[in-house]
Amino acid sequence: MFKQVAKQVATQAGRNFSTTNQNNYKVAVCGASGGIGQPLSLLMKLNPLVTELSLFDIVHTPGVAADLSHIDTKSTTNGFKGSEELDSALKGADVVVIPAGVPRKPGMTRDDLFNVNAGIIKDISTSIARQCPKAMVAIITNPVNTCVPIAAEILKKAGVYDPNRLFGVSTLDVVRARAFIGHALNVDPQKVEIPVIGGHSGVTILPILSQCKPKYTGSDADIQALTVRIQEAGTEVVKAKAGAGSATLSMAYAGARFAGSLLRGLNGEKNVIECSYVQSNVTEATFFSTPLVLGKNGIQENLGLPKLNDFEKKLLEAAIPELKNNIKKGVDFAKN
Ligand code: NAI
Repeated sequence: MFKQVAKQVATQAGRNFSTTNQNNYKVAVCGASGGIGQPLSLLMKLNPLVTELSLFDIVHTPGVAADLSHIDTKSTTNGFKGSEELDSALKGADVVVIPAGVPRKPGMTRDDLFNVNAGIIKDISTSIARQCPKAMVAIITNPVNTCVPIAAEILKKAGVYDPNRLFGVSTLDVVRARAFIGHALNVDPQKVEIPVIGGHSGVTILPILSQCKPKYTGSDADIQALTVRIQEAGTEVVKAKAGAGSATLSMAYAGARFAGSLLRGLNGEKNVIECSYVQSNVTEATFFSTPLVLGKNGIQENLGLPKLNDFEKKLLEAAIPELKNNIKKGVDFAKN
């Protein structure tokens, strides 16, 4: 049964065949004891491309690692606790997934998390530069729009920045869009294809419903309401959890899907496509999410902006100033 689940996790974002079969990757999860980190680490433990799972946090990782290590999949699992063990956790990692840092409480925006989380991203990026400068780095920590530029600046300072290997994880926005559309159209959400571009907060999240397959058949009012629901879906969860945090289980699923896609690209699989927030020259914002083809060296091709209708062009116009501010904040933080 585990084999079946593991296979599903590895192939859920596509059904293509490997051209090589290295099956031999080290994945590090930073923030592995948290609400996202634990279920994400579980899903990575089930991924057959992973042979070494390295779990880092400032608390509880020995326990989380001992627990996961009893699962009968091939990867070894090691826990690393506290900043003095961060370098060892990251050494030689092929993929680093980062859900470390504080989540939102009701009434907070993602930007409110900046003061605490910016420093965490800075420290982890500094260690990545030393221990695994060629790793694919996937940042889940909010505000994603700002944390990714921080990591880029830190990696640049260390002389190891490769824009094809640094990703902000916006997969949950795609996952949510597929879920909402699938249920609205009464089709299997797994069969829904929809680009969600831009950034990962409020108005910067741009679901491109005009390009949805199967065609989204709602009225203009439905399109407006669904767009806002996708943009505010994180807040829906924050409110429902009433002070106990933000999305964790759906985020773990989305993070495992994205990390799984990075591994599939690394492993030589063709046509692995994900939307992700990366350095970009597609718009005026220097970081922007669009569909990307992932390969052995990270981004193989940026597929650029999908075709936008007038409604979506307006959404894009509203997103750009906000994104530029978010990016500037990150660059300024890292420079000072
Ligand atoms: P949590 O509080 O349950 O877990 C965070 C973990 O990070 C804790 O175990 C904590 O000990 C650890 N941590 C704190 N400082 C650390 C450091 N310096 N190094 C390593 N680990 C450290 O929070 P949760 O719910 O897991 O959320 C984590 C982050 O993910 C938040 O910033 C949240 O806003 C973000 N998030 C992002 C989403 C996305 O779509 N990109 C969706 C949902 C949440």
